[in-house]
Amino acid sequence: LEHIRALNQRPAVDAILVQLPLPPHIDTDRAIQTIDPTKDVDGLHPINQGKLLLGDPSGFCPCTPAGILALLSHYKIDPQGKHVVIAGRSNIVGKPLAALLMQKRAGCNATVTLIHSASTHIEHLTKEADILIIAIGKRHWLKAPMVKEGAIVIDVGINQDEKPNIVGDVDFDNVAPKCAWITPVPGGVGPMTIAMLMHNTVRSYENRLL
Ligand SMILES: NC(=O)c1ccc[n+]([C@@H]2O[C@H](COP(=O)([O-])OP(=O)(O)OC[C@H]3O[C@@H](n4cnc5c(N)ncnc54)[C@H](OP(=O)(O)O)[C@@H]3O)[C@@H](O)[C@H]2O)c1
Repeated sequence: LEHIRALNQRPAVDAILVQLPLPPHIDTDRAIQTIDPTKDVDGLHPINQGKLLLGDPSGFCPCTPAGILALLSHYKIDPQGKHVVIAGRSNIVGKPLAALLMQKRAGCNATVTLIHSASTHIEHLTKEADILIIAIGKRHWLKAPMVKEGAIVIDVGINQDEKPNIVGDVDFDNVAPKCAWITPVPGGVGPMTIAMLMHNTVRSYENRLL
């Protein structure tokens, strides 16, 4: 906490990111809440999460949700009116992504369903989706029968198989033939997250010049 407070005070530091998960003896919420919200480029401070929920663009948006919106925008996929099903409700991916995609002010205007470990009839819900975003951390969790023909599938998961190779939450080889668009792992969302981190860092620097 002392180190974070020292970085908050240093004018030459524009961005502070606490790499999660932290060891269990460190209070994650307390560490995040100690970051100066104007340097919180991961967008996890309650001030930035609150602004995101309210649709106030002056805060920092968590990098993975921002990267997914940038991906959709780049490929001219408009979520307006689409049924987006998100699997996973973490503070870093699922929750902020749901808030962004449903928003009027951000111009997304999607209809959003959020799935978590207590959800029932999951296959019924995923099959209804025009856009499926999977962020649960279970390799090859999304199988082909769970996907509607022509759906757009975004795979956030980063898992290791037994080799160990990096694999996503989506059974890519079997799901891809049904999709209009699908993101690969590795590639896809991961590099977008890093790009958005740089974007937020440059924004923080520019804000400090004002
Ligand atoms: N590509 C990137 O840049 C990037 C960025 C962040 C994370 N990730 C990856 O994305 C994955 C998710 O990360 P996270 O931090 O969001 O995960 P997390 O904090 O572990 O949350 C996982 C979520 O998935 C839900 N879930 C778990 N098993 C489920 C099941 N069988 N059915 C339905 N829901 C289930 C959990 O439900 P409950 O809430 O009920 O427990 C929870 O909401 C991980 O593989 C992580 O490495 C990638």
